[in-house]
Amino acid sequence: AGTLGRGKSFVDNGSLVAPEVQVEGAQTKPPFYLGFATAAPQIEGANATDGRGPSIWDTYAAIPGNIDSGDTSAVADDFYHRYLNDIAAMHLLGVKKFRMSLAWPRILPGGDGQVNDKGINFYGRVIEALLVAEIEPHVTLYHWDLPQALQDRFGGWNSDQIVPIFAEYAATAFKAFGDAVVHWTTFNEPWTFCFLGYGQGSGAPGLNDKVQAWNCVHNVLKAHAAAVKQFRALVPNGKISMNLNCDWAQPLTASPPDKAAAERKMEYMLAAFADPIFKGDYPASVKQRISFLPQITAQMAADLKGSVDYFALNHYTSTYVADKEGAIGLQGPCDYSETQVDLAGKLIGAEAESDWLKVTPWGFRLMLNWVNDRYQPKEIIVTENGMSMKGEDAMPMPQALQDTQRVNFYRDYIAAATEAVTIDKVPMTGYFAWSLLDNFEWGSGYKKRFGVVHVDFTTQQRYYKASAKYLVTLFKCTLLDP
Ligand code: NOJ
Repeated sequence: AGTLGRGKSFVDNGSLVAPEVQVEGAQTKPPFYLGFATAAPQIEGANATDGRGPSIWDTYAAIPGNIDSGDTSAVADDFYHRYLNDIAAMHLLGVKKFRMSLAWPRILPGGDGQVNDKGINFYGRVIEALLVAEIEPHVTLYHWDLPQALQDRFGGWNSDQIVPIFAEYAATAFKAFGDAVVHWTTFNEPWTFCFLGYGQGSGAPGLNDKVQAWNCVHNVLKAHAAAVKQFRALVPNGKISMNLNCDWAQPLTASPPDKAAAERKMEYMLAAFADPIFKGDYPASVKQRISFLPQITAQMAADLKGSVDYFALNHYTSTYVADKEGAIGLQGPCDYSETQVDLAGKLIGAEAESDWLKVTPWGFRLMLNWVNDRYQPKEIIVTENGMSMKGEDAMPMPQALQDTQRVNFYRDYIAAATEAVTIDKVPMTGYFAWSLLDNFEWGSGYKKRFGVVHVDFTTQQRYYKASAKYLVTLFKCTLLDP
């Protein structure tokens, strides 16, 4: 087995050689490319550096009790200062794609108005370093870090005042980086930031109001369409999408009502966003039950049509869904219930460190087929998939680096996606592992580790886990051995 880098190198921490990985089963190169995904507020730190303004997550994290262990994203992986090392390490690994987000409060500290050149310059340097390292950046405009000023001024995503302001921010980014970046997305996981942030209060801005959550959905769709209008004019050769997340909904029993309930759950979580984009309206199941759902006008439907060039899917896990009349879920009245335990009391899949995440690779294949059948997208790029390994944070270093559970997770999920492509003919072209580095996992702080590179948050040293070696070997990335 080769080493993962040179003896003395950018990752100068004595841990260049990742632990050996023993993996059973076929190890042929998957029929899609590999990338690693990250997000600005989870890796950058430097929250008050070079003119960055406060975001709603800074405010939310400062309230005691909101983040486990009282963690904040103030330092995170210090990527703001260490990006060259991390990009160089990816280059040595032979990685060719990197998903990152731009921090809106770095580029427009107050949300609109004065552009912060230092913010633009930072991302200019990161993107340039990636291109020099022969790594293609995939850029997300919004990964949850709304400038606090916009939440204060008109309630953030609850108000349609955000629409032209987001489009202005997007245009600023397209003008600055549109010649260097081909693949873009407007929003990362609007389901999560609308329903957990505005609808439940378990994320920023910490509100608990289902009306605001559905307003958020509606304004996100409008803002997406407005941003894509700018994109078509400013980046005519680029490709843009929206990162939509969905768990696979498995009917709890084979009964027709449970099957219909599982379908309904897919509509609530995924089609609530994807149907307006691909079909011009919210799903009937949602319209029937959410009395306060805003209406999609003919103009809005026309603006949304053709506003994504590929389907960007984030997927991690599965749940069982059962019919339940009168049930009110995270998204309001829905008439279904969810569990991750079957009728015999058995878990749907092995546990990860994150309580919502169970290992269900079979659901990934079904999920990809569902998307393909309903929307027939030209192309699907999986923009996130990965896991927090059970117990990892408490493990001694050698054991944490030998992350067998994560290696097996990737092996099995990638095998399931491979079947979706080769057998089911799903047009999936790319796969981004979440994440390159252990990072700020939102309300869970730093103890839920998703990286293939271990970060010691005291020293900021990086150490490869076995999963890093596994993925680059499986995808036959060109290792730059000495
Ligand atoms: C969803 C989000 O996009 C990302 O920010 C998060 O860290 C991962 N999934 C894992 O929960």
